[in-house]
Amino acid sequence: MLSRLFFLGLFVLQPVLASIIFQQQPSSDPIALVPESKRWHYTNCTAPEDIIELYDIAVSPDPPLRGEVLTVTASGYVKERLEEGMYADVLVKVGLIKILQKRFDVCEEARNANATIQCPVEPGEYSIVQEIELPKEIPPAAFKASVVAYNADDAPVVCVDLWIDFRPQPGKLGLGL
Ligand SMILES: *[C@@H]1O[C@H](CO)[C@@H](O)[C@H](O)[C@H]1NC(C)=O
Ligand SMILES: *[C@@H]1O[C@H](CO)[C@@H](O)[C@H](O)[C@H]1NC(C)=O
Repeated sequence: MLSRLFFLGLFVLQPVLASIIFQQQPSSDPIALVPESKRWHYTNCTAPEDIIELYDIAVSPDPPLRGEVLTVTASGYVKERLEEGMYADVLVKVGLIKILQKRFDVCEEARNANATIQCPVEPGEYSIVQEIELPKEIPPAAFKASVVAYNADDAPVVCVDLWIDFRPQPGKLGLGL
């Protein structure tokens, strides 16, 4: 009885695992693969004259998972020295509903988070790696975060809109969520 269940289990598990492994492989065969829907992405609303030129933002694991540590890597070019007083206006929404609207003191947050880069920031190329704990309690919803940063003189520094989707994925049996 036990072994029959076991084999039945394997039978079900096998195609599930195969499809997961299959989906995670970057494929050279576009017909064989339905591309996995992007669980996160960002758009760059930085203007050319802003103080930071954003190169890239990457996250790991991709897609981000609730209850795990998310490593965010952001890189860019800082054109002017950034000093104490830099701030970021953050707006987080689920659908049309604002769940957070807050102004953050960027230098203070960097200190509190033991970030690899601290104020003042001299001009140059930077890559920041920051670990963020994503609590299990995050609701399984799609979030949009708008971040606009300014220096102490209110000159625009950088602007990013981020989307993260924690909703269970259809057809993935909620594995990993
Ligand atoms: C973001 O926009 C700025 C200004 O238009 C541009 O210089 C920069 O290369 C862009 N970065 C990305 C990652 O799109
Ligand atoms: C930052 O470092 C200090 C001193 O090492 C430590 O007490 C604190 O918990 C750290 N904070 C974070 C968010 O890692």
